[in-house]
Amino acid sequence: MNSKKTKNKWTLLPGQPLTEMDKRILAAQDRGKLVPTRSLIKTPEQIEGIRAAGVINTAILDLVGERIHEGMSTLEIDKLVYDYTISHGATPACLGYEGFPKSCCTSINEVVCHGIPNELDILEEGDIINVDCTTILNGYYADASRMYVIGKTTPRKQKLVDVAWECLKIGEEICSKPYVYVGDIGNAIAKHAHANGFRVVRDLCGHGVGLEFHEEPDVEHYGHKGTGMLLVPGMVFTIEPMINMGTWQVFCDEEDGWTVVSEDEMPSAQWEHTFVMTDNGVEVLTH
Ligand code: MF3
Ligand code: CO
Ligand code: CO
Repeated sequence: MNSKKTKNKWTLLPGQPLTEMDKRILAAQDRGKLVPTRSLIKTPEQIEGIRAAGVINTAILDLVGERIHEGMSTLEIDKLVYDYTISHGATPACLGYEGFPKSCCTSINEVVCHGIPNELDILEEGDIINVDCTTILNGYYADASRMYVIGKTTPRKQKLVDVAWECLKIGEEICSKPYVYVGDIGNAIAKHAHANGFRVVRDLCGHGVGLEFHEEPDVEHYGHKGTGMLLVPGMVFTIEPMINMGTWQVFCDEEDGWTVVSEDEMPSAQWEHTFVMTDNGVEVLTH
């Protein structure tokens, strides 16, 4: 039996001439690269749907930015997210997702991601918090997160927040043309994090998104150039580097089954956008 993986094979449309995209993908596939299936290529209509979800998603994170303050509980943030989403005809994707109990993730300081909003978690001066929100509109998903700094934080935590942002922008820059590999993104992001003395979380990654919450491919934020999936026009995916001040290792809170914390309990920062790859590189759909 042939043990070669045939899972990610590009299929040609019967009776249609080969397009430029077909040729590029087939050439990569012949060199043993991981290529998308046709099902990962969104139609223009689907991309517009995801873009519309992104508009609401952006407005939610803007609203959080306007309202967030010292003394506020993360449950109050969740209520803002829920109310805004519902009143705009959309649905918070996190709510009920694999049993997640709230409408967004709120991850403070050493919490890497998937923090659960709670009335007992009160924001304090100097906290850094990630609010991660995924919005479903008419069946289309847009996923983004931002860091918010409560008052003034330490120079070191501010640096972490800034470098995590730069890592996202570097990922975007790598995607300024199509036919790059997921590994090109991760390689560049890890280099930048390491150059600043920080580390990249490996246990969680970005992902395809749009018709479902989490689709192929995995978008790792470390790795080697030319590895991982080829990114071609029509693919929609997130980049969402989680950058740690100390070790890259993390653990999951056993009690709630969700909250991911850095192993050494040093601070962590993350930013996330949803992107669509086009003939001219990526366009951000979540701003
Ligand atoms: N929004 C997260 C992501 O970027 C996933 C959160 S899943 C949840 O992929 F269940 F914790 F909400
Ligand atoms: Co997210
Ligand atoms: Co995501």
